Amino acid sequence: MTKTLEPCTLVIFGAGGNLSRNKLIPALFDLEAAGRLPERMLILGCDVMPHQREAWLDFVANSLRRTYPDGLNETALQRFCARWHYFDTPIDDMTVYARLQQLLEGTNSDFPPNVMYYMAVRPSAFPSIVEHLSNVGLLSERNGWRRVVIEKPFGYDLLSAQAMQAGLSRHLTEPQIYRIDHYLGKATVQNVLVFRFSNLLLEPIWNNHYIDHVQITHSETLGIEGRADYYEGAGALRDMLQSHLMQLLTLVAMEPPVTMEAEHLRDEKVKVLQAIRPIPQNAVNAHAFRGQYASGVAGGKTVPGYREEAGVAPDSTTETYAALKLFVDNWRWAGVPFYLRTGKRLPENSSAICIRFKQPPQDLLKHARQGPPQPNWIMLGIQPNECLRIEMQAKVPGLDLQTRIVSLDANSRQEGDEDYDAYSGLLLDVMQGDRSLFLRIDEVEAAWRVVDPIIKVWSMERDFISEYPAGSWGPRGTYRLFDRNDQFWRHSLEPEGADLQTY
Ligand code: BG6
Repeated sequence: MTKTLEPCTLVIFGAGGNLSRNKLIPALFDLEAAGRLPERMLILGCDVMPHQREAWLDFVANSLRRTYPDGLNETALQRFCARWHYFDTPIDDMTVYARLQQLLEGTNSDFPPNVMYYMAVRPSAFPSIVEHLSNVGLLSERNGWRRVVIEKPFGYDLLSAQAMQAGLSRHLTEPQIYRIDHYLGKATVQNVLVFRFSNLLLEPIWNNHYIDHVQITHSETLGIEGRADYYEGAGALRDMLQSHLMQLLTLVAMEPPVTMEAEHLRDEKVKVLQAIRPIPQNAVNAHAFRGQYASGVAGGKTVPGYREEAGVAPDSTTETYAALKLFVDNWRWAGVPFYLRTGKRLPENSSAICIRFKQPPQDLLKHARQGPPQPNWIMLGIQPNECLRIEMQAKVPGLDLQTRIVSLDANSRQEGDEDYDAYSGLLLDVMQGDRSLFLRIDEVEAAWRVVDPIIKVWSMERDFISEYPAGSWGPRGTYRLFDRNDQFWRHSLEPEGADLQTY
């Protein structure tokens, strides 16, 4: 349902950076073209470069033309540009925030008093920006709301996340903080909740009586794309697993919330994270596997290995691949392994949740099949295919009794459906004050608690990391995470993807 939104001001810090150019500006423009931005909304881009407004509008238009090389809705572009203003924030200028306060709240200000501040800057810069805003009164809600959007990583371990939070909470209340995990804005990720809680069919089998294990995968063909300064300190575990994949796990495993209100939803997600069995440091190697891409062939091109990328230390042991086995120790999931994995320079761009069921109690149709028994799978494709797929056994038509896998396939996307980037929906949620798809601090802390022992062990074991050739499905040894020999990574949603090969 479309709600009418109050006029507001969006202030983007780091407006000239990659996140703003590649994600925020296009996402806002899509909302503009769809007529979904509040009528009197204004946007203020803040960055260190001095720009006149005209030059800034060229930057905005050029960013959009790069995103949409086939053409833009020019009327929407005009409307969009009319909303934008630019404010330069030189690093050493002590008057920046006083001037910003005048601009936003001075007597002649045209900026609507409800303000969202988007921190599209390095995490190390958030706390000081928040402090400056607070010092000049720009976070006070005496006249309209003030919301602050921050991007992951929320710290680099539990302690640093708590320290960052202590800094933020001196100036902001928890409801003012919107911790974005853009994965939660993806249509199929939200579909996990719809599939589970709008259909009765799944609920009776959604537990350890029927489910053998759950796999959650995010694979990418790209390398680190010039982000060595961030990635060297982060690695795949922090970059993807502690955040996006762990969020997917919570959606698969959570109990039905009391209502779909933000707090009820987040209460249930936190319970899942708290129920994850802690991994003692001496068991890390049985639960976690890391790897780093070596040179290889990806997308038909020979690409360098991670340690040959610009800005990466020649002896770096930062992981570009990480896989985990986790157990959620509660009544529903006791004994069911959750396997999570992510990697850069893998053969495909794909994200999916694959749920494998147990075998029937008796193998009555053994004679009708060649090869080992094939269990049922339910698979939720997140990207690029947005689908729900169920694999079952069926009879091959003909005189003989033979079975084969058939796939019941429901594409959640139909022709003519709207297609928005995750950021569009999430930006709209901030304007509406809907926090359901944003992370609460206890979720963030609970997720760090799960991965902290792994981070500690990996940071001590710096003399060796398994390698995998770019373009392969990751290091071989990752199979040792599986509980049993008949468990294997599901590389593709196609039946033939259910193979036993790592390479
Ligand atoms: C980001 C990570 O959060 O998510 C990137 O920092 C990763 O390393 C990206 O590539 C993946 O998101 P998407 O939406 O492109 O699949």
